[in-house]
Amino acid sequence: MGSRSVIVTGAARGLGHAMAEVLRIAGHDVLAVDRDALSARDFAAGAGRLETLSIDLAIDDAADRILADCQSRFGRIEGLVSCAGIGQETISADFVTKPVNFWTVDDRDWDRIFAVNLRAAFRLCRAAAPHMVAAGWGRFVIVTTSLETMIRVGMVPYGPSKAALEAMAAIMAKELEGTGVTSNVLVPGGPANTRMMPNIPEPQRSMLVQPDVMRAPVTWLMSDEADGINGMRFRANAWDDSLPGPESAKVAGAPAAWAGIQGGAAKVAGRNEPITSGGVS
Ligand SMILES: NC(=O)c1ccc[n+]([C@@H]2O[C@H](COP(=O)([O-])OP(=O)(O)OC[C@H]3O[C@@H](n4cnc5c(N)ncnc54)[C@H](O)[C@@H]3O)[C@@H](O)[C@H]2O)c1
Repeated sequence: MGSRSVIVTGAARGLGHAMAEVLRIAGHDVLAVDRDALSARDFAAGAGRLETLSIDLAIDDAADRILADCQSRFGRIEGLVSCAGIGQETISADFVTKPVNFWTVDDRDWDRIFAVNLRAAFRLCRAAAPHMVAAGWGRFVIVTTSLETMIRVGMVPYGPSKAALEAMAAIMAKELEGTGVTSNVLVPGGPANTRMMPNIPEPQRSMLVQPDVMRAPVTWLMSDEADGINGMRFRANAWDDSLPGPESAKVAGAPAAWAGIQGGAAKVAGRNEPITSGGVS
């Protein structure tokens, strides 16, 4: 097929910007979404179209408005790269050196972070899925975080919000099995050099993962070659773009979430099993 219509959230900067730009370069029609103002001029030209929409994902009708915008511009919705996120840096700019203890986190910060990282992503996936399933082809690429970060000291509520998002992506993969629509997780593979990691001086800053690592894996995941790749998580900094896509996917990929940790009870991208089966507690 080639050119797809893809929504990328969090596209004003950082990982989302890199992914929106490369998808356009690869020939896809991209709706770049962010709360902050963004302009098509900020993205390198490519074979695809790139339109922008400035909207706060935390507002109640954001998903409906984004989907309607994508439909009216491109006439179809085939991919969603859910990348927008906020974290501990919105509680304390010093969170890397002075961890935020969970007992100091107030309800407002908890709600704010979960509203963007989990609820907004859920609403977009919920709104987009029927379009993709009806078309028999679609891609969800969900940006969570490293499994270590989900349980790192000082990471409430960011870590739990991303753990819940990872779980959602894995459940989506199972429910979408056989529909032609896939759900995979893509993470940079470590702390990345973006606004989310403030107050890190050089030379440590340059040693962070660069946003560009997201380009090759997201391009591959959006391609027809990735048909049937479902329920996986990919570490972008482990992607080796000197290898053919399927081989690089083997190197950088593993089952999403925590499949198998309960004595093999869970399945990765398997059948639609009742939640009570298999002894998963
Ligand atoms: N930077 C890291 O170390 C790191 C590591 C693992 C995963 N991630 C994840 O990668 C994703 C991108 O983060 P980043 O590092 O590029 O950070 P970033 O702050 O550079 O980019 C995040 C973007 O999301 C947008 N956004 C935030 N809240 C929004 C809202 N309510 N509505 C619309 N847009 C909103 C921001 O305006 C921003 O442009 C996040 O989901 C983050 O959790 C980041």
